[in-house]
Amino acid sequence: MGKKFCWVLWDSRDVLGRPSCNINNIFCFVFVGLLIVVVTSGYEGRDFQNTLPAKVVWGIPGKDIELPCDVTPPVPSDAVKMVFWFKDSTMPIYSLDARNVPLEKASHLAAAYDVGSSLDARNVPLEKASHLAAAYDVGSRSYFITDHPSRARLKIKNVTPEDEGIFRCRVDFLNSPTRNFQINLTLVELSSPPKIFDAEGKLIKSEAGPFLEGHELFLSCQVDGGRPRPSVTWWHKNAILDNVVDTKKNSFTTVNQLEIAQVPRSLKGAKLECRATSMDIAEDIVREVPIVVYLRPTKVKIVTPNELMSSAKTHTYKCETSGSYPPAKLTWQLNGRTITSAVITQEENESFSSSIISLTVDPEDDGKELVCKADNPRFPGGSLEDRRQVHVAYPPKVAVKVSGGAIPATEGVTVELRCDSIARPAAHNFSWYLDVSI
Ligand SMILES: *[C@@H]1O[C@H](CO)[C@@H](O)[C@H](O)[C@H]1NC(C)=O
Ligand SMILES: *[C@@H]1O[C@H](CO)[C@@H](O)[C@H](O)[C@H]1NC(C)=O
Ligand SMILES: *[C@@H]1O[C@H](CO)[C@@H](O)[C@H](O)[C@H]1NC(C)=O
Repeated sequence: MGKKFCWVLWDSRDVLGRPSCNINNIFCFVFVGLLIVVVTSGYEGRDFQNTLPAKVVWGIPGKDIELPCDVTPPVPSDAVKMVFWFKDSTMPIYSLDARNVPLEKASHLAAAYDVGSSLDARNVPLEKASHLAAAYDVGSRSYFITDHPSRARLKIKNVTPEDEGIFRCRVDFLNSPTRNFQINLTLVELSSPPKIFDAEGKLIKSEAGPFLEGHELFLSCQVDGGRPRPSVTWWHKNAILDNVVDTKKNSFTTVNQLEIAQVPRSLKGAKLECRATSMDIAEDIVREVPIVVYLRPTKVKIVTPNELMSSAKTHTYKCETSGSYPPAKLTWQLNGRTITSAVITQEENESFSSSIISLTVDPEDDGKELVCKADNPRFPGGSLEDRRQVHVAYPPKVAVKVSGGAIPATEGVTVELRCDSIARPAAHNFSWYLDVSI
């Protein structure tokens, strides 16, 4: 009989929209009893929903959510009598009954809760109050947590988009006026995953770049949709690079353009991140972009000691460079001319290159400049050089000159002969010979 009553009530109201009322008789009766209490208290009406500001609570589909309702009595001497939760309607989806009503009497409640009945003379503590939830959709997933009255909250499990809407919490006290709260439960809609574009507007599929050390880097991160509008930020190793969103508030696409005026060397091999953050409660949607940065060589040095070289012998010079990415190519120049004839052996790894040249010098090469040049072929202007003067040792070349008197000489006149020599190191022991072949 009770079940029938229940059906009739549900169907006639139609606001709950669920014809399949698969609840047991007792529940049904209790619920009907509550309805009567609610309706007869004469407090219901759409007016509330128009006048009360609704606090927006964001939920994530599939997750749990808590809707706050402060049930602290306005004065310490007072106590909560009943709490009702409504959703989009004047029919409660949930109630908390702190009146001292034994549950055994439940089946008689419909009759007991007659107009004007006052069963609230004695009250039970909140933790002992009886909970009643509508057995359909949101009610069946709800529980009202009252461990801390000021932070009492309706916990809804596994929220669905259908749960969105205006919830109202009505708190009836024994003596104080009824209190109402309105909560607008809105579900977070995640944005699209971030898309990264380069300065030419080309979609980056894997790595971005190459960028040149000391030059500009530009990347644009875009996400579509999302409610609330996501915030789009750029990160590197958990440090924020750019948190300024470059789009207008109401546009569908949210863009953050990352501009680094001078790419530091430290960004070589870095992975930048673009994060779309909808809310604190929802996880960020992250897109990682590895970037390629080319580096200038930082060091180049001819490491062979600068010793005197003997002419007509083969000497080796070694030059080393580091810091370049990709590794630098090393070339040798003597007096501004690239050496192509010599034997050059080159070694390199990730950032280090070395080159050994085998060079045969002539006396004419003495004092010329030997240059080792490190050049990053992928980096315009990315070159560095080390230079040194070569010193070539060679044997003396001599010439005899008349420095006083005249030749042919007249007998008895003094002539002075000078021996000039060019040698490196300079000759220091001169010997004169006459009519002797050495
Ligand atoms: C609920 O809040 C959302 C987000 O602020 C808003 O868009 C929506 O209009 C609100 N709904 C109602 C019925 O106030
Ligand atoms: C490259 O070679 C140099 C010299 O042999 C060495 O010191 C350096 O650690 C190497 N670097 C890498 C990345 O292999
Ligand atoms: C200079 O050369 C001569 C002939 O070779 C030699 O006898 C003499 O010892 C040398 N003197 C010195 C100071 O080296």
